[in-house]
Amino acid sequence: MPFPQERLRRTRQSESWRRLVRETRITPDALIYPLFVVPGRGVRHAVESMPGIFQLSVDEAVKEAKSAAASGVRAVLLFAAPARKDARASDALDPKGLAAQAISAIKESMSDLIVWADVCLCGATDHGHCGHIDAAGRIENDSSVETLAEVALNYARAGADAVAPSDMMDGRVAAIRARLDREGHTRTPIVSYAAKYASAFYGPFREAAESAPAFGDRRSYQMDPANAREALREVVADVAEGADLVIVKPAGPYLDIIRQVRDTVRVPVVAYQVSGEFSLIKAASERGWIDERAAALETLTGMARAGADLIITYFAPQVAAWLRT
Ligand code: PBG
Repeated sequence: MPFPQERLRRTRQSESWRRLVRETRITPDALIYPLFVVPGRGVRHAVESMPGIFQLSVDEAVKEAKSAAASGVRAVLLFAAPARKDARASDALDPKGLAAQAISAIKESMSDLIVWADVCLCGATDHGHCGHIDAAGRIENDSSVETLAEVALNYARAGADAVAPSDMMDGRVAAIRARLDREGHTRTPIVSYAAKYASAFYGPFREAAESAPAFGDRRSYQMDPANAREALREVVADVAEGADLVIVKPAGPYLDIIRQVRDTVRVPVVAYQVSGEFSLIKAASERGWIDERAAALETLTGMARAGADLIITYFAPQVAAWLRT
């Protein structure tokens, strides 16, 4: 049925029509809000490169989680930047460590809010890499995996609703599943950062999480941005090892990966709109160069249209509030 019988503009003629035929709808139910926890009390320290985002002490993180929940957000993703940093990542292994404290404090005050705990070594190691370093200065896979499994167990014991390994070591999902199950945490899901690229868009996060590597970069464990088939291998491997959800990260420059992952596996696919993607929109909108609300919603719509079932975004509470108006 070609033109003039077919006129695609018929269903675009009013806001009501457009809403009626909309193919992709964003809902606060599908958003996850990252929180950065630092030591101290009453600390609410602005992250300069991420306007509106703060480093929060545990008490302030509880308040921030409450206010996000009040806007309609149902889940948070916790990152800890402890003061104690050493080769073993001791703070992440400690039942009284910063992350464990934050997890239990938030769960105690809001049992309905879902708390995902980011599992990695970079925030707690003195070198800032996501795994242990061997004598030659290389990132050692298998010993890192053992530590990551212990960290995941620590967070599950503290009450995390899910553990989210973001290190990109091989075999860590299977190791975490086995470790959790052996200790009776059979009900704790694993949200795997399955396709995580070595991206320039993590820059602002490294300020917030104080996790920049002291030497080198992360390209021996995070993926090459040029590779798509390899992302599918990562995702298929993680699902086979027991991942309950998989993350593609970053999101905006990787919409093709989100789509291919959605078409390849059956577990929920999570897109992570990372710090740099957030900061770009914030910076341009602060200069009056872009409409923040429209741009933010458009990026999230693109991710959902590409196949993301859930989205981790620093805009989460803001978007939840916008969607109510
Ligand atoms: C640490 C981690 C990073 C992010 C999440 N977990 C940074 C990195 O790998 O260097 C990035 C998140 C963001 O930029 O918003 N493993």
